[in-house]
Amino acid sequence: MDRHDPIAVFDSGVGGISVLRELCRLMPRENFHYFGDSANAPYGIKTTQQVQELTLAAARKLFDQGAKCLVVACNTATAAAIELLRAAYPDRIIVGIEPALKLAADRHPHGTIGIMATDVTLREAKLSQLMQRFSRDCTLIRLPSPGIVELVESGRADSPEAVALMEQELSPYRTELDALVLGCTHYPFVKNAIRAVVGDRVELLDGGEGTAKETLRRLKDADLLNDQPTGSLVMENSSGMQEKLDLCHQLLEHT
Ligand code: DGL
Repeated sequence: MDRHDPIAVFDSGVGGISVLRELCRLMPRENFHYFGDSANAPYGIKTTQQVQELTLAAARKLFDQGAKCLVVACNTATAAAIELLRAAYPDRIIVGIEPALKLAADRHPHGTIGIMATDVTLREAKLSQLMQRFSRDCTLIRLPSPGIVELVESGRADSPEAVALMEQELSPYRTELDALVLGCTHYPFVKNAIRAVVGDRVELLDGGEGTAKETLRRLKDADLLNDQPTGSLVMENSSGMQEKLDLCHQLLEHT
């Protein structure tokens, strides 16, 4: 393993591109290998054991291909499998994204915070632990958000269907929310649809930037930052479909 090896970024599909975007911004000299497991997405409705098996298989593949570090750009995989991953690869740098609850509670200490995430993330113990640790005087509302992952995976993040779905899921809470934690890496891509429903007053927060900063910190500590002038990007998707790779490139430019 050396500093020129790639940083592997893994998600159940195209959602982790929202994290890759932050990683590329922060570390433009790094070589990235993005692997989306769209053939098996969505992970968020599977059993914990299924998510663990898929995540371990992806990590094995990426480390075997020479990754110097692994970013789990999937809240669902982190919630279900991060401890297993760390036990399987104790000497490797592994960073897992988590819902940005701490950030939300710091910014809205007495506010009402909605947490949008997949079924797996909402039911795993990791989220309850985060909620207990950081909620203090906030009111936290768990918001299951079915259907968004499928919309983003099929390239319909900015569609009228996305606005209709967000209307259905979020309009009951519109007046009481101060912030919304986007606890799934697919969700930042439907920000426009979310905004159309909740307006500009509600702050939208996700863990992408924090995950990128943590990755930088860990690589720096290990003296593994790339010293070449420019970085590179390899995109891979388990679906084997060119359209998925095209979608990944499009989402990388999404604002
Ligand atoms: N992008 C993943 C996350 O952050 C989950 C999507 C899925 O259900 O596959 O949780």
